[in-house]
Amino acid sequence: MSKTNSSEFIVIKAKEDGVSVIGLTRGTDTRFHHSEKLDKGEIMIAQFTEHTSAIKIRGKALVQSAHGEMDTE
Ligand code: TRP
Repeated sequence: MSKTNSSEFIVIKAKEDGVSVIGLTRGTDTRFHHSEKLDKGEIMIAQFTEHTSAIKIRGKALVQSAHGEMDTE
């Protein structure tokens, strides 16, 4: 795992109750390994790790990363 990868944080701010932040596994088998529920106004700060290669967000949220800021629809 490169340093760049592990030091990159993703900030997720829920804009409604019940937003899900879902971690997907790294490796040949890509599957959900963790689901975190956020209520409106709650923030989660997450990283890509040796276990997590992708993050899926369900529900209305503001997402900030090194690639910019995005709103889910
Ligand atoms: N145990 C997980 C890991 O180390 C925790 C985690 C990190 C996670 N980043 C995440 C869970 C993003 C959900 C979404 O990889």
